[in-house]
Amino acid sequence: MFETNRLILRPFQENDINFMLDLWNEPEVQRGTTADYLVPRSKKFKEKLREWTQSVPQVDNALFYVIITLKETGEFMGNLTINVSNHKNRDGTLGITLSRKFWGRGYGQEALLFTLDHAFKSLALHRVSLGVFESNVGAVKLYTKVGFKEEGRIRKGVWIEGAWEDVILMGILEEEWRSDIQHLRADATS
Ligand SMILES: CC(C)(COP(=O)(O)OP(=O)(O)OC[C@H]1O[C@@H](n2cnc3c(N)ncnc32)[C@H](O)[C@@H]1OP(=O)(O)O)[C@@H](O)C(=O)NCCC(=O)NCCS
Repeated sequence: MFETNRLILRPFQENDINFMLDLWNEPEVQRGTTADYLVPRSKKFKEKLREWTQSVPQVDNALFYVIITLKETGEFMGNLTINVSNHKNRDGTLGITLSRKFWGRGYGQEALLFTLDHAFKSLALHRVSLGVFESNVGAVKLYTKVGFKEEGRIRKGVWIEGAWEDVILMGILEEEWRSDIQHLRADATS
């Protein structure tokens, strides 16, 4: 279990599963996170969610899977993952999801600053990667702010609400993390 100023990042517990299903059923959340059909997810989808939470580092792609909760109240806020498909290259793929009611208060930034620090210092990653839909401007801003750089685009790679969108590929290297954003890193745990 990890702690930042305002957040707890902890393992999945069985009673998180209903919150996770609700999270997936928030239209704005699903729109930002899935390239798949935007449809209500039924109870059966819990099995898939549970499967993801219970994958094992170095056996499955999972390396880091945490539930994000608010330190003050213990409320479920969302989750954050890093998957590694090829351990030789030490490249982790990051995903973060927060429930709508927690957006815009710096929680995403706080969780990412901690996780990037942990990813490079303790999980021994060499780079962290992600893909983000171009209309998800909030997420792009957040990722840029914590040091990710655009590395390419899958042009018109995803169909969302009547239009093709690029998937922006972003990444941050270990050496960039060390040098570029010293001023922000202090916020993560102080
Ligand atoms: C993307 C997400 C994690 C951002 O979390 P958040 O807690 O709202 O972001 P923060 O409040 O920490 O914002 C940090 C910075 O990002 C930018 N930002 C975040 N959301 C923004 C938005 N909707 N519009 C404009 N800027 C935004 C701001 O510039 C902010 O910097 P500032 O403090 O200098 O203003 C959250 O919106 C989310 O979970 N969305 C749904 C799931 C999703 O899309 N995940 C990303 C998939 S790639």
